[in-house]
Amino acid sequence: MVCGIRHLAVIMDGNGRWAKAHGKPRLAGHKAGADTLDRVMHWCREAGIRHLTVYAFSTENWKRSKDEVSGLMKLLGTYLRTKEKQLVKDGVRFRVIGRKGDLSAALQKKIAQVEEATKNGEWNLNVALSYGGRAEIVDAARKLADSFAADPAARAAFDADPEAAFAKCLYAPDLPDPDLLVRTSGELRVSNFLLWEIAYSEIYVTPTYWPDFDKAEFDKALEAYSHRERRLGGRLK
Ligand code: FPP
Repeated sequence: MVCGIRHLAVIMDGNGRWAKAHGKPRLAGHKAGADTLDRVMHWCREAGIRHLTVYAFSTENWKRSKDEVSGLMKLLGTYLRTKEKQLVKDGVRFRVIGRKGDLSAALQKKIAQVEEATKNGEWNLNVALSYGGRAEIVDAARKLADSFAADPAARAAFDADPEAAFAKCLYAPDLPDPDLLVRTSGELRVSNFLLWEIAYSEIYVTPTYWPDFDKAEFDKALEAYSHRERRLGGRLK
């Protein structure tokens, strides 16, 4: 099935509430969420979606309890260690977007290694870690200002096409903008996720918690997308 979506972005929300509803610690919710991610990757491939970007840890999530933060970081490290071979085998290009410098040296090293090992993959999994949409825009502005100072041609390129020149300074400039943003667990907000990139994305929100997001839910999101009229700011003919 081809659904016309090139890039799906997901705010994987509700792990904590799922855990509470099952009488489990919050980290059990995040572990179940990591399993959901595996399944969603599979369904994306079946549906012909080539880019998946998921929000795993925001710049604001550092304010959570020490135990939850360290548990999540440990889970990410374990994920990378246990999945690396499979990612390579499946032709997945793994990338982290966000302020990687905020992460532990060990996790940064592992991320760099998996990014290198998977760099020729043709299917894209992007994990937002210590990510904030405003932080990304600020980081891009800084990069652009630095490029002006270093290279006079950079200013001319910016003047010729400001939005394109700015977008080149984002964390993963080669990615197409998301066609669809899915948020689980019912909150009607974008929570500082991909603020620049979702300018024209369709948004789909389901009350289902992320660990319970199953194939039927996935299909419902795609079905909803198929009925949207994407004007991209223009007029329909
Ligand atoms: C939001 O739910 C979810 C997170 C802050 C973490 C998402 C992380 C994963 C799914 C784990 C693994 C990811 C990878 C890439 C291996 P919440 O905790 O805010 O839920 P709540 O709103 O119900 O409390």
